[in-house]
Amino acid sequence: MYGPDRSAADEVEWTAFRRAEKKYKLYYDKDSRNSKKFDKPIPLRKKQPKKVDLSEVLDFKEILESYSKSSELHPEVVPLQCGFDRPVFCLKTRPGFYFIPGALSVEEQCKWIRESLTSFPQPPNRTNHNARYGPIHDLFISAKDQKVLVVEDNSLAQLDSESDACRNGDAKTWKFYEQHTAALGDKSCKSISASKLLRKLRWSTLGLQFDWSKRNYDVSLPHNKIPDSLSQLAKGMATPAMPPGEEFKPEAAIVNYFGLGDTLGGHLDDMEADWSKPIVSMSLGCKAIFLLGGKSREDEPFAMFLRSGDIVLMAGEARECFHGVPRIFTDKENAEIMPLEVHFSREIDFLEYIRSSRININIRQVF
Ligand code: OGA
Ligand code: MN
Repeated sequence: MYGPDRSAADEVEWTAFRRAEKKYKLYYDKDSRNSKKFDKPIPLRKKQPKKVDLSEVLDFKEILESYSKSSELHPEVVPLQCGFDRPVFCLKTRPGFYFIPGALSVEEQCKWIRESLTSFPQPPNRTNHNARYGPIHDLFISAKDQKVLVVEDNSLAQLDSESDACRNGDAKTWKFYEQHTAALGDKSCKSISASKLLRKLRWSTLGLQFDWSKRNYDVSLPHNKIPDSLSQLAKGMATPAMPPGEEFKPEAAIVNYFGLGDTLGGHLDDMEADWSKPIVSMSLGCKAIFLLGGKSREDEPFAMFLRSGDIVLMAGEARECFHGVPRIFTDKENAEIMPLEVHFSREIDFLEYIRSSRININIRQVF
């Protein structure tokens, strides 16, 4: 909404959380397309991301490496001694927050990326596309097959005007067609390519369905149980944040899909009944910056990198802390997805998707 260059007077009105969001958010250099120092013609020059100072971003990969080598730690970080089978770190001033660096193997990461794109968005699970297009089956395969989503003929006949079809999805039926068939129909606004829909996929919900308009769980909506293998994984990963002997019960999950420039604004997840239970949050694909604030937006947030395979737990007091994702990195140097690229080298569709995307699966006990 706002550009990066607002006056200092405006800045003091922002909360500390908002200031950090603005600091890390992707902005483009205003002059990078016009500057005289470039000799390429303007259309061939790529927009240049504004440089951002990452020196204050906590890097748990480095923290783990130096801790393993020399037991040296960042002054804010404490290792958790809990007999868990891999290193877990906490923050001194954010009790209930746990970071498990590199918790998932590359094979596991690939499995969950595949699931997130092929099976998790399948009905009855809902996605951000439901409101406009109704349930959509086989989005990923349809994108691969270059299909096009088109309003079915019967509903076309009922339309008063073209713009109705675009604005109001609820009464219409949308269906995938081969590209050449779709081209027989006219009017661009009554169809959309599957690949565009895939790029615009922002979330899907598993298990109990979260209703974003009411910001709560709608138990009346049809749903499947969280897949067993995801449930088992979450139970295991949740143990550092669980009271001894108690088992985490995964009942719902939200899958977030981020493309370049997408952000998740500062928020609390407060619709679950028991905040002593953790949210288990796994990162896949391109590296991101995560902001963990305090109980007020005025509290200075910690910024940290989230890499593919990292798992974060938020339980107890940390459930009351504002958090969000102001930035993902898709450039080669910062995205850090080389191992995924190697794994997906013969699966071009997954490869292309993940090169410019991040996926976050966060698993919750609702009751
Ligand atoms: C969320 C969330 C964090 C992330 O979906 O509620 O906080 O890492 N996601 O994407
Ligand atoms: Mn959240």
